[in-house]
Amino acid sequence: MNFTGAHILSINQFQREDVDQVFAVADNMEPYALRKRATRVLEGAILGNMFFEASTRTRVSFGSAFNLLGGEVRETAGFENSALVKGESLQDTARVLSGFSDVICMRHPQIGSVADFASASRVPVLNGGDGANEHPTQALLDLYTIRKELAQKSRGIDGMSIAMIGDLRHGRTVHSLSKLLSLYTKVRVVLISPQELSLPEIIIESMRRSGVDVSESHELTQSIADVDIVYSTRIQEERFSSKQEADIYRGKFRLNQAVYTQYCQPNTVIMHPLPRDSRADANELDIDLDNNPNLAIFRQTDNGVLVRMALFALVLDVADKVDDFSSPVHWYNSRQS
Ligand code: NCD
Repeated sequence: MNFTGAHILSINQFQREDVDQVFAVADNMEPYALRKRATRVLEGAILGNMFFEASTRTRVSFGSAFNLLGGEVRETAGFENSALVKGESLQDTARVLSGFSDVICMRHPQIGSVADFASASRVPVLNGGDGANEHPTQALLDLYTIRKELAQKSRGIDGMSIAMIGDLRHGRTVHSLSKLLSLYTKVRVVLISPQELSLPEIIIESMRRSGVDVSESHELTQSIADVDIVYSTRIQEERFSSKQEADIYRGKFRLNQAVYTQYCQPNTVIMHPLPRDSRADANELDIDLDNNPNLAIFRQTDNGVLVRMALFALVLDVADKVDDFSSPVHWYNSRQS
C-alpha cells in the first residue's frame, strides 16, 4: 500500500508487508516517545482531531503523537460543540476542516461515518473508531504490543493463540484485530462471549477462509487455559438500546488473579483496549491483576503513541526524515525505556 496521502479507514487496506512497515517506523519512534530526543519534522503541520464519541486515550494519544513529531493539534470533542447539531453534513464539515488541517483523525458513533467524511476531505483521514465497525489504529497497536510481548519469549505472531473475551458483537477493537490476525499463519483464536454478543459471522467466516483456527465458547475458565494472550473487552453499553439490556451481560466474564492463577498458563499476556469497566457490577479485569507482570494494558497505551506517530509519519511522507529534524531534550525525564 502507498501510505503517502492515504486515508486509514479499515484494516482491510493492509497487507502483511504494510503492517511490517508501520511497525518498523514505530520502532524508530521510541527515543522521541520516551523524550530522549525531540523532533520537529512536522513543524507547521496541523492535526484536526475530531471526536464525536467518548474518548480519553485514543484522542490524547493521537494528539500527543502529532505533538511529539512537532505538529500542532486542533480539537473538537462532542456533537454539542460542533455544527453537526445545526444540521451540517459530514461531507461539508470535511470540506471545511480539511482546509484548516494537514491530516484529520475522527471518531463517530455511526458505522461508515468516517469513510463518508473522508470521501469529501482534501487531506488524509484516520479512523479513530466508527461506531461498532472498526478501530484500525487500535488493532495495529494491539498487534504491535502482542509482537513485543511474544518476542520476549522468543516467539512470533505466526503460531500464536489468543482468547478474545466479552462483547465481541459490538467491540470494534476485536473486529479490527480479528481482520489483522488473518494476515498471519497458524493463528488460533478462541472467542468467548454470551451467545447474543458473538463476533459477527462475516468476520468469523473471513478469518476461517484465511486459515485462522477459530473456536467459540460461552464460558471463561476452561477456554483461557492454553492461550498466549487473553484479550478482555468492555460491554459496549452505548451500543445497546438501554442500560438495562447491557446490564444482563455485565460482569459475566471476570478475570482476576485467582482465575488467572488457576486457569491460565503462567506467562499468559493480559490485554484490554481500555477503558476497563472497574465498577463493582462489571469489574471485567480486576485491579488485583495490576501487579501481575503479564498485565500489558498500560504497555498497550504506551505503544499506541509509537504506532500513531508511525502512521502520521507515513501518511505525511516524513518517515525517513524524522531523525534529520531531531535534537536532544533538556528537561528532567523519569521515564525508563
Ligand atoms: C475502545 C473503543 O473506543 O472502541 N477504546 C479505545 O479506543 N481504546 C474500547 C471501548 O471503548 O470499550
